[in-house]
Formats: sequence, structure tokens, C-alpha cells
Amino acid sequence: MPYRRKFLKRAGYTTLSALLTMGFLQKDKQKEDGSTNAAPANYLSANVNSPLRQLAAAKGKRYGAAVSTDILLKEKDYADLIARECSIVTPNGELKWNATEPQPGKFTFESADAIAGFCQKHNIELHGHTLFWHMGKPDWLPYPPTLKMLERHVTGVMGHYRNSPVLKSWDIANEIIADSEKETDNPTYGLRKGVKRELIRDLFLLAASVDSSKKFYLNDFGIEGATWKSERFLKMVEYLKNSGVKIDGAGIQSHLWFSTAYGFDEKGFNSVLKRLNDLEVKPLITELDIIIDTPLPDSIKKLDQMVADSYKRYLDLCFAAGVDTVITWGITDRHTWIRHPDWIPGKTFRNNPSLWKFLRPLPFDENLQPKLACNAIAKAFQQAT
Ligand code: G3I
Repeated sequence: MPYRRKFLKRAGYTTLSALLTMGFLQKDKQKEDGSTNAAPANYLSANVNSPLRQLAAAKGKRYGAAVSTDILLKEKDYADLIARECSIVTPNGELKWNATEPQPGKFTFESADAIAGFCQKHNIELHGHTLFWHMGKPDWLPYPPTLKMLERHVTGVMGHYRNSPVLKSWDIANEIIADSEKETDNPTYGLRKGVKRELIRDLFLLAASVDSSKKFYLNDFGIEGATWKSERFLKMVEYLKNSGVKIDGAGIQSHLWFSTAYGFDEKGFNSVLKRLNDLEVKPLITELDIIIDTPLPDSIKKLDQMVADSYKRYLDLCFAAGVDTVITWGITDRHTWIRHPDWIPGKTFRNNPSLWKFLRPLPFDENLQPKLACNAIAKAFQQAT
């Protein structure tokens, strides 16, 4: 199933009761249209004049965003915002296999190097996303690739950034766990069909043989709670640890869809974070954005408040568990991936362009002005201990 379809499926719908269970709407304040009368949390007092990177740094933490080279080059206001707010960035697509090795053995780093240059100029760290992903692959490449193909790729890409002063970490593998038990032939580890745990182990070993000075992460989505998927993800992390390979962190993507089953449950998520900490594999938030789906509130103002409240609750929980890196998947609603024609989510939005204005998952609005979500992130950093 194409990835976009997966997202449509992923955005498919649970009832209001699920939402209530997740604690996102308070029952006594629930109105018929799904909006609430809940008093806004006091985000306006957060000091939004201070850049998020500065508020994060005051607590020994980092804030960052996914960025795209073409936008950085075209839009000065966007580039200025990234430079002001971020202490770490992830390339949106520039380091994926289809971008770096579009033809077998022919490497190109022009776009990714442009981001690395920007980072160096503005004292920003670069996170390498990603060496291995079933979606970000050129057409010529089988999935999974052979070990020989992996070796050439990892050597070419990691080798290019071996001496980079800004690139400090890699998503060695991305989204290797299947979305459900129907899509795997490996009930224990839940790996996507054809992927063997030994291949992933060898990929981490290969990476370490090329450049072990970087941090190595396993990155995935849908693990923000006690789910079938998070259980398999943790098993895989455990397997890699037990195999003695270098794995420093777990990237918890955090594309959070509220009003759907893809929200997070606090208890389950706390236990995921605890188990990672116990394994000494650092949890990082790598692709955070918050999408409110059915039931939509009746105004943008209410929606922004719901998004902000969700950011605050999510980050409070993350910081209490010691998370020190928060990367949002983009920084402004102007360029959120979820408004791209390829990725508009189904049911509520796909056939209703008039509702697309409700897709406001990021801290800054289309005019690059801070939203309540930005204040909520700021406040969460300020209150972190
Ligand atoms: O660059 C072309 C542009 O030239 C063209 O005019 C335009 C027409 O639609 O498309 C542009 O390419 C798009 C590209 O993003 C840059 O915006 C592709 O169509 C689009 O499919 C591609 O999607 C990216 C996707 O990964 C696949 O690489 C999304 O922006 C990006 O947000 C998404 O990121 C993933 C993470 O890597 C892994 N986790 C989930 C996350 C969201 O899906």
C-alpha cells in the first residue's frame, strides 16, 4: 500500500470516547461540535520573544525543525526564522537514499550540503535523516536492499559527512516496523516484510565501521503509547542492544493525530520512555506535529488552542522523562507536509479543500508569526527541570 494511503488509513477514525479516554477533551466541557469551553492555559505569559533554541538551551535542551533546501534558498524570512529558532535541523528529504544515490553508485550531495553550509553559518546541528527507509528509496533499489548495496550507500553517504563539523547524528534506519501484524511475517519484531533483524544489525555495524563518532538512532512513528508497534519497536531496540551494536537513541517521530487512535496515551507512552531509558537508549522527539481531525472545532482560534494544549501536555511528559531534543516536522504551517497534495489526510480533509485551513500542526503560522503552539513549546521548555 502506498505510504500516503497508509496515512489515510492511519487517520481513520475512532470515536469521541477514544478521545475522551486519551484525555484530550474534558467530558463535562464537551460541546456537541467537539469543541470545548476549557479555559485557555496561560501560554500568553510565555516569553515568546526569546527564540525557542535559547529557551531550550537554558535547560540543556535543543529545539529544531525539519527544513528543505529549496525553501531555505527561496524564502529569506523562512531562513531567518530557522536560524533564529533552531539549534538542530533535519533535512526533509535531502539525505534520503533517492536524493543522495539516485543512480547505483552515483552520489550527489548538493542539496544536503546546502543545509550543512547553512547550519555551519548559524551554529546549528544537523541530524542525518536517513540511511534506510522503504519510502525514501530510488526506483532502482529493491526493498530491502542487499548488504552489498547497503555497504556502498552507507560508505558513500556517511563517508561524505565523516568530517562534517555540524552533522552529529544519523537515523540509521527509519520505519522498519510494520504498521500492523497483518503486514509482517515476523510476529516478534514486527519488521516490514522481507526485512530480517540481522540485516538491521549489520546496517548498524556497517555504520559504526564507517564513522562511529556520530550518534546512531532507530526512528519510527506510532510508538507514542502502548501499541502493537511500540512493543515491537522496543523488542528491536533490545535486540540491537543485546547484539552489542552501537545504538545511542530512539527517534520517536510523534506525528500526533488527535481525535484518532494515533494520539498518545500518557501511561503507555511513559512506559515506552521508561523502557528506553532503562535500556540506556536515549529517547528523542524527531518529527513532532499535531493534527486535529474529527471532530473539528468551530473556529481556528479553538483549534489553535487545542493544538497548543496538546503540545504542552506532550512535551511536559517528555521532559519529565528526561527528553532533551525536540524537533518539529517543519516550523511553519506555510510549509507543513500535511498540506502537500500528496499527503492531505483522508475523510475529513481530502475532498474538502475549505477545511485545509484547519491543518495547522506547527508552532508558526503561514505568515511566520508565533502561534499559541509556539508559546506552549516555550512554556514547556521554561518549566522543564
Ligand atoms: O520537490 C518536488 C517539487 O519539485 C514538486 O513541484 C512537488 C510537486 O508536488 O513535489 C516536490 O517533492 C515532494 C517532496 O516531498 C518535497 O516537498 C514530493 O512530491 C513529496 O512526496 C515529498 O514528500 C516527503 C516524504 O517524506 C517523502 O520523502 C515529505 O515532504 C516529507 O515530509 C516526508 O517526511 C517523512 C519522514 O521522512 C519520515 N517520517 C514521516 C514523514 C512524513 O511523511
